[in-house]
Amino acid sequence: MIKKTITFDLEVHEDDSSMSTEDQALLSSARSALERAYAPYSNFRVAAAVKLSNGEVVEGTNQENAAYPSGLCAERVALFAAKSRYPDAAVESIAIVTHHEELSSPVAPCGACRQVILEYQTNQKPAIHFLLSARKGTVYTLSDARSLLPLHFSKEDLKKAP
Ligand code: THU
Repeated sequence: MIKKTITFDLEVHEDDSSMSTEDQALLSSARSALERAYAPYSNFRVAAAVKLSNGEVVEGTNQENAAYPSGLCAERVALFAAKSRYPDAAVESIAIVTHHEELSSPVAPCGACRQVILEYQTNQKPAIHFLLSARKGTVYTLSDARSLLPLHFSKEDLKKAP
């Protein structure tokens, strides 16, 4: 038996002021999209802003439905919209925010969104940069989608079956 330990790096910023202008702008795009969330059932608004290698920024918000599982998280709304529109552009960064004023720790993407984000990262060279925050306050940054989903399922696994 061998024991393996998986670790990852996370940067914790007290607020936006210690971040690059580009990161501040992406967070601000995500925060301004929060008003467009459709979350009448959970009242938990989430928005994501995706920065692409062609310079475009595509925003998405969570979209709920009376048939609950039919709704979709903000991250996937943003990424699917971005990749439908610009399939050849790489995803450079994604900012994910909630409508809460300030949280003791920012929310992180759900498991299904992590899987989707990682698939796009696997298809491109650069790793994806993450910015996680609320309307203001603490910002977590991460620089690789793999750290959010160790031992993930990928297209390589599909080839393992006989
Ligand atoms: N939600 C997101 O949009 N992104 C996440 O990563 C976690 C959860 C949404 C889904 C649902 O509309 C609401 O937040 C409550 O779960």
